Amino acid sequence: MTSRRPPHSPSQPFATLDWTGRHVRLLDQTLLPRKVKYLSIRDEKTMWEAIRSLRVRGAPAIGAAAAWGLYIGTARRRNRTLREVRRNVKTVADYLAGARPTAVNLFWALDRCRAAVEALPDGAAADEALATLLAEAQAIQREDEESCARIGEHGAPLLHGIKGVVTHCNAGALATAGMGTALALFYTAAAEGQRFTVYVDETRPLLQGARLTAWELQQAGIDVRLITDGTAGTVFQRGMAQAVVVGSDRIAANGDVANKIGTMPLAIAAKYYKVPFYVAAPLSTIDPAARSGADIPIEERGAGEVTSFGGTPVAPRGTKVFSPAFDVTPARLVAGIVTEAGVLRPPYRRSIARALAGQ
Ligand code: MRU
Repeated sequence: MTSRRPPHSPSQPFATLDWTGRHVRLLDQTLLPRKVKYLSIRDEKTMWEAIRSLRVRGAPAIGAAAAWGLYIGTARRRNRTLREVRRNVKTVADYLAGARPTAVNLFWALDRCRAAVEALPDGAAADEALATLLAEAQAIQREDEESCARIGEHGAPLLHGIKGVVTHCNAGALATAGMGTALALFYTAAAEGQRFTVYVDETRPLLQGARLTAWELQQAGIDVRLITDGTAGTVFQRGMAQAVVVGSDRIAANGDVANKIGTMPLAIAAKYYKVPFYVAAPLSTIDPAARSGADIPIEERGAGEVTSFGGTPVAPRGTKVFSPAFDVTPARLVAGIVTEAGVLRPPYRRSIARALAGQ
């Protein structure tokens, strides 16, 4: 089993998802931080439900989960010929693609795995096609782990000399197959001896910041202050933070960034107080087909996530709700996009195109 450990925290005890050789072992994030429980996933329906219910979440982790789901879902069907494998791959990929709409890594990973099977010569055996699918899922997981480490290395210098940094939602090891995207900067900077406080937005309605990011950073020995989503402006006003780093679920070709709801107002507050706002994400999160943020589909979640809190109703019965899970931060608010290929700077249409061409 692969172990992904932030370099300053060699004893970090959790892996988000992995392949045991027989099934996918996946940490159920809906139970954190109360309970650390792993699920054994053996079919695509259970994987679809795990993605839909946010048992696994965060764009890069969703991509890896989808690739594994495609393999296990295909392998358990009848695959006597290459043609049968290809047909099964399409059926399972189409099914998994319906789990969530915004994180582009889901579609990117499914397309990549499918293309690997399509690229086989027509005379290839069914076993070879299944082995190709498995190898592609393994490669996606391994490459994401490497990308996270590079993102940390490229981004850590942006934090030199800061006293505090704000982050939103969870873009750590729990959201990836590696040490995280935004949090990789914190882990790497801390390993280099920098000392700073991370202000973590609690991230309503599902509290990924409170439940996941605070948990992850605490275990890694990084100084954390949990704040409510409306507090970041005060943190900037009082000079307590000199940078913001967040992850992303999808980045458009012009640098507009979709991320967890609440990210865009955070970027506006940061701009007002002249605090640089950085996004950390692998190149697989860039969707060149989305010309701008307007092309990014935004998931809307059910009312119950807003009208109740920890299972207790907090709004009058029947209250109507508007609950987009993500928002789009305009590119002009983004000081840099930290990728495994380096820090991309405005104008993003050009720097993004160059980075994708260099892959
Ligand atoms: O709904 P989630 O928990 O899957 O959303 C994830 C996010 O939006 C995170 O902010 C994250 O930065 C993007 S993936 C590293």
